[in-house]
Amino acid sequence: MSLELIINRIENENSRIRVLYLSAADGSDLPGYTPGAHIDVEIDGIGTRSYSLIDFSTPLDSPNCYCIAVQREDDGQGGSRAMHQFEFGDVMVASTPKNDFELTTSDSPVILLAGGIGVTPLISMATLLQDTGAAFQFHYSGRNADSIAFRKVLDEQHSEQLSVYLDDQNPLSLNALFSSADASSVVYICGPRGMIDAAREAAAANGISADNIHIELFASAETQTGDTGFEVEIQSTGQVYEVPPGQTIIDVLEAADIDLVYDCQRGDCGICQTDVISGTPDHRDVVLSDDERASGKVMQICVSRAKTARLVLDL
Ligand code: FES
Repeated sequence: MSLELIINRIENENSRIRVLYLSAADGSDLPGYTPGAHIDVEIDGIGTRSYSLIDFSTPLDSPNCYCIAVQREDDGQGGSRAMHQFEFGDVMVASTPKNDFELTTSDSPVILLAGGIGVTPLISMATLLQDTGAAFQFHYSGRNADSIAFRKVLDEQHSEQLSVYLDDQNPLSLNALFSSADASSVVYICGPRGMIDAAREAAAANGISADNIHIELFASAETQTGDTGFEVEIQSTGQVYEVPPGQTIIDVLEAADIDLVYDCQRGDCGICQTDVISGTPDHRDVVLSDDERASGKVMQICVSRAKTARLVLDL
C-alpha cells in the first residue's frame, strides 16, 4: 500500500540536512509505526529511497505527521538531491512504514550508536527508552559539527545519555566505548559501513554477543573505485544480463521485468538474499555472517557485485 504525503513544513537543519514534515494529502491520520521504522519514498526517474521516521515524542498509533531528514549527497546517485528539490505543498508517494530495525524491550542496558545522518532511527528509539525509564547510552559520531543533526534538541532531551564525538575534535573510540559497557548490553548501530564493521568488531572483542547487536546501514549501493561490469545469468531461464558499474543487480533485473523481493537496498535487511550457483560474489552487505560470506553460496543482490566475469543466480 502506498501513501500520498504532502509536505507541510521544511526546515534546514544545516547546510546539507533538510527536515521534511509530511501529512496525508487527504488529511487523514497516517499509519502508526514503531521506533526504527522507515518509509520508502518514490523519486521520479531514480527509484525509491528509504528514510527513517523521526519522533521526539513517543510514536503514536495514528500520527498526523511524519518527520524525515535528508542529507544531500552531492556525489550520490541523485536521490538526495531530488529530495532537496521538493517544496512546501508538494506531494510525494511513499510506502507505509516498515521496520527492519525494531527496538526490542528487555532488562538489558541499551547502547545506541549513530554515525552521521544514521542518527535518525535512533532518535525515535531514544525517545521511547527515555519515556519508559530504560537504561541506555546514546553515542553520536560525525565528521564535524556540520554533520551532526538535531544537536540542540538531543542535548535537551537526553542530556544524561548523549555523547557526541566529532572526528576533528574528540573522535569516537569504539574500544573505549565497548570496554566500559556491560557485556549484556543490547546495541543498535546505524551509520556507514566502515563504522558498523568496526563497531561490531569492538563490541565482540569486549564480550558483547553478536545476537545482541542490531544494525542498519545508512547508505545506498555505493560505487567503489575500480568497479567493473559483470554478467548475471538467471539459472531458470538461462538469460544473461550485463550489470554495468553504477547499477546494481536489482536495477538491471527489474528493468528486465524480473520479479524480485527486496526492501532496504542497502544490504542490511537480508530480504534480497539469493543463492549463488556459480561465480564469486563481491560482498558489500552487512547482514551475512563471515561464514556465509566465505562460502560464496549466497549474496545480497541489492548491493553486492561479482569478482568473476559471470554470476549464475538461483532465480
Ligand atoms: S534489500 Fe535489504 S539486503 Fe538487499
